Amino acid sequence: MNESTSAELALADLFEDARQVALHSYSPYSGFRVGAALKLTSGQIVTGTNVENVSYGLTICAERAALVRAVAEFGPQIRIQAVAVTNLNEAASPPCGACRQVLAEFAGPETVVVFPAADGLKSMTIAELLPLAHDMKLK
Ligand code: THU
Repeated sequence: MNESTSAELALADLFEDARQVALHSYSPYSGFRVGAALKLTSGQIVTGTNVENVSYGLTICAERAALVRAVAEFGPQIRIQAVAVTNLNEAASPPCGACRQVLAEFAGPETVVVFPAADGLKSMTIAELLPLAHDMKLK
């Protein structure tokens, strides 16, 4: 098997993990069931789903749910190699702006994010999804 084929298979598995965790979505207000799966550089997979709240603004997206779970389970030194995001609504769901910035904290510019876009499954790097990410270089 060549390298690109095995990388594609790994992403397909990650996508399936995202789909499975979306079954656990708590989304009574939007009905939009989202799942995210992170592949860490250490090889571990961590998933998360969106958890809504009656006060709407306190809703937590699937990507951030997965990220906080990853830090809690494996510690603050984690790095993200790849991310898969999907939903059970057969809709496009690129990660929201807040999630892009939060993922970027633990990702490199070349970290790949796979998600359903309006024109089908898309794979983009963090650098493409979040050009000019906020950074803080204190002098
Ligand atoms: N949502 C996510 O889980 N991830 C995103 O990147 C964008 C939106 C969730 C939040 C809310 O529960 C539902 O999708 C509708 O916005």
